[in-house]
Amino acid sequence: MKPFEKILQDNKTWAAEQKAADPEYFNRLIKIQSPEVLWIGCSDSRVPADKITGTQPGEIFVHRNVANLVVHTDLNLLSVLQYAVDVLNVKHVIVCGHHNCGGVRAALSNQSLGLIDKWLWHIKNVYRQYKKEINALADEDARVDLLTELNVKEQVLNLAKTSIIQKAWKSRNGPDLHGWVYDLRDGIISPVFDMPAGSRVDEIFEYENL
Ligand code: CO
Repeated sequence: MKPFEKILQDNKTWAAEQKAADPEYFNRLIKIQSPEVLWIGCSDSRVPADKITGTQPGEIFVHRNVANLVVHTDLNLLSVLQYAVDVLNVKHVIVCGHHNCGGVRAALSNQSLGLIDKWLWHIKNVYRQYKKEINALADEDARVDLLTELNVKEQVLNLAKTSIIQKAWKSRNGPDLHGWVYDLRDGIISPVFDMPAGSRVDEIFEYENL
């Protein structure tokens, strides 16, 4: 059986099991979508948002990209963010990175990998900002892990710099922003940076007329 055929077969098994355990499962889910959390995570296959958080369908709204970046020209991310914040009224936005992130590791190298160089450019800029403390670490894995944490922090700051978040903070004092890192070695998530609603960012990024 080919991998894609196995996925289709496993899907049928899963659907049947859900229905057997709870006959109303799908009828209930079809009617509601009111997640309280937007999750921005890495595309890495080892960090499935709902599995590692034990959340059920309907509980978290998810956006994933390589190295969980918040890029101000990314229409995809911005659309997810705007819909989650303005329409779903999520209470929390979480940026979750993970240790041993391939995107972060690649950004720390001088190898060109093709088109993705343009995306990793944003992580190189985070590195440039914290070069001194990252270079102070002798071990390469430790450097990748530190850049992973600093990258999460910078992506949370990037969220706070959007007019979408600033407008919501003014109008409804939410959502709170959180930066987390998932450890592939033991499955534990550690918080690394928080920005409660109403936090300040560098003043040049604060919009007065929202
Ligand atoms: Co990753």
